[in-house]
Amino acid sequence: MILKIENLSKNFGKLKAVNQINLQIEQGSVFGLLGPNGSGKTTTLGMLLGVTNPSSGSFSWFGQGDSPKVRKNIGAILEQPVFYPYMTGAQNLDIVCKIKEVPKSRVEQVLEQVNLLDRKDDLFSAYSLGMKQRLAIASALLCDPKVLVLDEPTNGLDPQGIAEIRQIITDIADSGKSIILASHLLDEVQKVCSHFCVLQKGNLIYQGKVEDDFSTSTSIEVASDNNQQLMSVLKSMPHVKEVIENEKTLLVKGDSSLNSLQVNKHLTAQGIVVSHLTTISKSLEERFLEILAESK
Ligand SMILES: Nc1ncnc2c1ncn2[C@@H]1O[C@H](COP(=O)(O)OP(=O)(O)OP(=O)(O)O)[C@@H](O)[C@H]1O
Ligand SMILES: [Mg+2]
Repeated sequence: MILKIENLSKNFGKLKAVNQINLQIEQGSVFGLLGPNGSGKTTTLGMLLGVTNPSSGSFSWFGQGDSPKVRKNIGAILEQPVFYPYMTGAQNLDIVCKIKEVPKSRVEQVLEQVNLLDRKDDLFSAYSLGMKQRLAIASALLCDPKVLVLDEPTNGLDPQGIAEIRQIITDIADSGKSIILASHLLDEVQKVCSHFCVLQKGNLIYQGKVEDDFSTSTSIEVASDNNQQLMSVLKSMPHVKEVIENEKTLLVKGDSSLNSLQVNKHLTAQGIVVSHLTTISKSLEERFLEILAESK
């Protein structure tokens, strides 16, 4: 486990910006902190990085508590780092190397990781927004951290810039680093993360695995007065991957082209009358969209 958070809270006066959150993040995961504007993502990351003092609760990195020494294993971009516009990308990273006491040989390695090697000698002022963000990620990687923490890494970028950053994040994760990223974009979390939680007004209201919750599969709940017969008919139906027996209902899991109308037609054609038929997939996505709507 890379991080364990227990009852962590931050109050700003009466406002509970982060309210008693509990969370565990496993090594190797790309963990998405998902929530609308003002839900407490940045405040949470600020506490985890030693920038903001918690009001109460605690957290522990790598099972070793929290201290500047422990935090040396974390590379983070919380606010836009300040780079010198009149220096090149490589020169800017040389300076960071001095501050962080990292050998300069790391500069080319991290520039390569963020696809900036061919632009390393261009002035920072000539970089596009996407390149500036990639330089920031390179800077966070200099000390070869175990964990990379990113706050809204694609904010303000155009679609191509967004795609580039997402690919870089995925590559960094594939290289064995754990990543924690805050985002208000459901789509981003779906595309990049392995695990996620949802924050709403400072409360952690959901946590799960991306593949379980946002997979492109459909789940349909069905029941009839003869579930055994129903089971065998459903199992032979096209697009159905799995049929799980619950107490009174059957849960049909299939690919995204499966829908309740098809199931109903298929069963009717087989002379089976259902007493219950509900689509239960995508509920989380719908729920998140509701949360976004509520918070406006
Ligand atoms: N320094 C502060 N003083 C007072 N209130 C603050 C402070 N920082 C944050 N807040 C409040 O705490 C709540 C959570 O803010 P936070 O920045 O953590 O949200 P966020 O999820 O990162 O939002 P966004 O998606 O807009 O970045 C907000 O209501 C915000 O106004
Ligand atoms: Mg924020």
